[in-house]
Amino acid sequence: MTAAVPKAELHCHIEGAAPPALVRRLATHHGIDLDGLFDDRGGYAWHDFASFLDAYGRVSSVFRDRDDFRALAHAYFTSLAAEGAIYAEVFMAPDVAADHGIAIGDYVGGLDQGIAEAEAETGIVGRMILTGVRHLGPDRVRALAEWAAANPHPRITGFGLAGDETLHHKRHFADTFAIARTAGLGITAHAGELDGPDSVRAALDHLGVKRIGHGVRAIEDPALVQRLADEGIVLELCPGSNVALGLYPDIAGHPFRRLMDAGVRVTINADDPPFFHTSLGQEYAVLAEAHALDDAALTAITRTAIEAAFVDEATRQRLLARLDDA
Ligand code: ADE
Ligand code: ZN
Repeated sequence: MTAAVPKAELHCHIEGAAPPALVRRLATHHGIDLDGLFDDRGGYAWHDFASFLDAYGRVSSVFRDRDDFRALAHAYFTSLAAEGAIYAEVFMAPDVAADHGIAIGDYVGGLDQGIAEAEAETGIVGRMILTGVRHLGPDRVRALAEWAAANPHPRITGFGLAGDETLHHKRHFADTFAIARTAGLGITAHAGELDGPDSVRAALDHLGVKRIGHGVRAIEDPALVQRLADEGIVLELCPGSNVALGLYPDIAGHPFRRLMDAGVRVTINADDPPFFHTSLGQEYAVLAEAHALDDAALTAITRTAIEAAFVDEATRQRLLARLDDA
């Protein structure tokens, strides 16, 4: 019964988690036209990565003030807690919000407040990963790291890189990641999702990450899989997202189990749940069924996520104790 397994999520984009009902309500409130955005399965309509990014932008456009972001974070973190999650990190990208005229203080402040309210109501612990959008270019991502270094925030504990992986080589972000690391932030980068094993190697070699967003296409290179295992690199795997975006035909054909059996430290994540008709709970349940993972194996995966979480040691120990008690 995966419902009873304590869960943790390291890889989810906060606007990508926006519940369609909330998006409809805010669009009406702000007078925004969302014609054609919704599909008939309770999610968002798109058909390839470019149209996915376009739909993502339209969903993001309905969040216009601090209270909208509070409502978004509160909705997602309470839904995670209802599925048994004890910890979650979300990617937040102020550059997306800035393009709609939202001040970074309102963006960060609203999300922080929503997570704090969900924590108080449910006990789930939440952190935020400040995330650069790769296709906006290295200069904007660097400015974000500089902002983070100058404006420490207790809930922003990580720095990440998302967006279109096929644009701008990882080495163009090396200085930026050094700034983030020096500022004391945990670091992670999307790699090996839209691009192949070389992209994963570049993230390790140029950015110095110990956690990789996806990284799944490392499976195409056995020497790289061995390196990931040897170096204890943690992969933020998102099987439902990979299947939806056409990397693998179905969950049974996803390399989750092969990576795990090769000794790679793997975690389970939903990425952009309503876009992929999934949720964290569903990812755990579907993987358990398709890859023969019992509750002990799933709990061990949650433990890996907590061990790799961007939190202070006291919080990590508290979360591990909650796992032990479960
Ligand atoms: N931004 C939101 N979801 C993403 C994904 N799956 N890959 C890259 N960038 C993203
Ligand atoms: Zn992602």
